[in-house]
Amino acid sequence: MRVLVTGGAGFIGSHVVPALAARGHHVVVYDALLPTAHPVPPPRRPDRDFVHADVRDAVVLDRALRGVDAVCHLAAMVGLGRDFADAPAYVGCNDLGTAELLAAMARAGVADLVLAGSMVVYGEGRYDCPVHGRTRPGPRAEADLAAGRFEPRCPDCGADLVPGLVEEDAPTDPRNVYAATKLAQEHLAGSWARATGSRAIALRYHNVYGPGMPSDTPYAGVASFFRSSLARGEAPQVFEDGAQRRDFVHVRDVAAATVTALEAVAGRPPGTLRAYNTGSGSPRTVGEMAAALAEAYGGPAPVVTGGYRLGDVRHITASSQRLRTELGWRPQVEFADGVAEFARAPQRQASARVPRAKPSQV
Ligand SMILES: NC(=O)c1ccc[n+]([C@@H]2O[C@H](COP(=O)([O-])OP(=O)(O)OC[C@H]3O[C@@H](n4cnc5c(N)ncnc54)[C@H](O)[C@@H]3O)[C@@H](O)[C@H]2O)c1
Ligand SMILES: [Zn+2]
Repeated sequence: MRVLVTGGAGFIGSHVVPALAARGHHVVVYDALLPTAHPVPPPRRPDRDFVHADVRDAVVLDRALRGVDAVCHLAAMVGLGRDFADAPAYVGCNDLGTAELLAAMARAGVADLVLAGSMVVYGEGRYDCPVHGRTRPGPRAEADLAAGRFEPRCPDCGADLVPGLVEEDAPTDPRNVYAATKLAQEHLAGSWARATGSRAIALRYHNVYGPGMPSDTPYAGVASFFRSSLARGEAPQVFEDGAQRRDFVHVRDVAAATVTALEAVAGRPPGTLRAYNTGSGSPRTVGEMAAALAEAYGGPAPVVTGGYRLGDVRHITASSQRLRTELGWRPQVEFADGVAEFARAPQRQASARVPRAKPSQV
């Protein structure tokens, strides 16, 4: 297959591209090399087709899509950003960008898409109240967080809720601009599929970590903050009580899932989008990730600060059973092995132009 990979120069893309090539596919990387993602441009691979352009450039897209069988759409502005002033940039890159790409695919007759979705579309994960059963807590109150009461409470009786594994049919509840743009991408891809009789798969990646993860920019994830602290000789700072649960999934497993989806999407029914959680299936706490990284790095033990950010969700862990059952994907990298490798792997460097991050616990 000839596959166009938008965002192919990014963290996940730089693992997807060689994984596709290893399966004999011809890859065209399409990436704007955003300065927020690439303060230092990555080295060019002379053996790979590379288009240095924005997905909002319809003219370049029309040329790049010639002869393409399937598109893997990874290009996006990621992370929580600095503040609401970033909203137009997120919406431009992620939603206008997706709309331009889909319109160009429709013009070119390219009918197969794998979209990099995200678990952020769910907001809080799945919860059960011991009395009221399945429930959906709203955002946590600042008074609760300030008092060190971090577990979301049942909206009916106030009891602490028990977290479970979120499934794809769970209601969506994006809680920040980035999350809203990721959900809109899925809706756009679904509309495109219906309007053109095309096929789309959205892989809702969970917390991806591994070699090549960017260091602590406002756009990076929690594992990378801990790793960057260790690299400075500092103890990782863990928010809340460290018991927030996440599904940390290794980037090579995510790349393998993406290749599997690209090879399967042509067999899906026309006019449909199917979403798949893409996680390890083994929830960990943020505190566990910090401790495992500190130990593997040989650095100071993490400090649990009790700090918090409004808008952070407490627990978000997935069932990735659908991806296993329907597409036959299995994660291969054990948490301990993946963390040990990540503790020593190079990170993508931030430059002075990128402001130091507010710590993210996403
Ligand atoms: N890293 C995670 O934990 C995670 C979790 C869930 C979902 N995702 C999704 O996976 C995808 C890849 O994320 P990543 O972590 O590799 O991020 P990244 O920032 O490392 O890579 C994104 C790439 O897209 C490029 N890009 C951004 N906007 C573009 C545009 N308008 N035109 C062309 N290129 C553009 C950037 O230059 C960059 O190379 C994103 O869609 C992201 O939302 C990532
Ligand atoms: Zn209750």
